[in-house]
Amino acid sequence: MKAIVLEKLDPTATLELTETAIPEIAPDEVLVKTHALAINPVDYKTLEDYTIVRDGERLRASAAPAFDGVSPIILGWDLAGVVTAVGNNVTKFKVGDAVFGMVHFPGHGKAYAEYVAAPAAHLALKPAQVSFEVAAGATLAAVTAWQCLTTHYTVRPGDRILVTAPTGGVGHYAVQMAKHLGAYVIALTNPANAALAKELGADEILEYATFDTDTAAPLQLDLVVDAGGRNPATWFSRHLKPGSPLFYLPSRLTAHQEQLYKEQGLNATFKMVTSTESDIEDIARLLQDGSVTTTIDSIFPFTAMKAAFAEQQKGTTRGKIIISMPV
Ligand SMILES: NC(=O)c1ccc[n+]([C@@H]2O[C@H](COP(=O)([O-])OP(=O)(O)OC[C@H]3O[C@@H](n4cnc5c(N)ncnc54)[C@H](OP(=O)(O)O)[C@@H]3O)[C@@H](O)[C@H]2O)c1
Repeated sequence: MKAIVLEKLDPTATLELTETAIPEIAPDEVLVKTHALAINPVDYKTLEDYTIVRDGERLRASAAPAFDGVSPIILGWDLAGVVTAVGNNVTKFKVGDAVFGMVHFPGHGKAYAEYVAAPAAHLALKPAQVSFEVAAGATLAAVTAWQCLTTHYTVRPGDRILVTAPTGGVGHYAVQMAKHLGAYVIALTNPANAALAKELGADEILEYATFDTDTAAPLQLDLVVDAGGRNPATWFSRHLKPGSPLFYLPSRLTAHQEQLYKEQGLNATFKMVTSTESDIEDIARLLQDGSVTTTIDSIFPFTAMKAAFAEQQKGTTRGKIIISMPV
């Protein structure tokens, strides 16, 4: 089969297709012939073994440690495709089922391939009316948003929720999901993305340049999903209700950052997404009933993965970048 195989994490890797063996499946896995994949910022951050040194602390991409000492590597976690073989312990799927999911995050997903050995517990049935491209998008970014709204916090109708970077991969699902759960959604973005944020369901749009955090009426927030991570702790201090959570997503917080949030009386934590069966099944239901869909920014062929990475790195993605597989 064709796959993008790397000897090690390396920003100069060519990301070209090579021939490699179709993977064996374990008893709790299925073999999926991939039709579409999705990429995320963590893909290029992992490829680069992206490390930021902030406040004297070394912060690596959340999935990078999974590849220490591992070779060869096949990157990628998000896929949609068709089951071609079923492990002995799997009762949930049969050959021919169309499925989608986020495989083994934050581990070795091996999704950049024509065939992927995927734990049945990391997949859900793809709703029939949903395309492989839409389903492939609604994986890592969608599970991240869903876990913020239903696992790390439980949204109640009427909650006031602020989403930053609300038209990016995570943000555009977070806005739709928070609306679906009955929240009042405030999107913090720039003018170019305001119309899309509104279309996704945001009740109110604030703009970075014009919203004066020090003088505006307090937003009385119950939750902040901070996918952008651009605002300092002081930005939020007047606007979150006491004790209400702020989920910071771009990277782990340093001790110094934690201190800054604490000084502002904020309950801010980094949250990391993990492959969870009930969450991908919930997302399948949300796709099925039309509560959530994927805004597709662009579709790249598998042969153009490097170009897809360059596009993702611009930081201007509206919804998801999808990779189409040869079928
Ligand atoms: N913790 C986790 O488990 C987890 C899971 C998924 C993603 N993430 C992280 O969350 C972040 C968002 O992910 P995503 O998939 O939504 O990415 P994305 O699709 O690339 O997000 C695009 C949006 O990010 C904002 N942005 C662009 N440049 C920026 C900059 N220099 N600083 C801050 N924000 C910028 C822009 O929104 P505005 O102009 O509207 O701000 C843009 O629309 C990334 O850092 C990603 O690595 C973490």
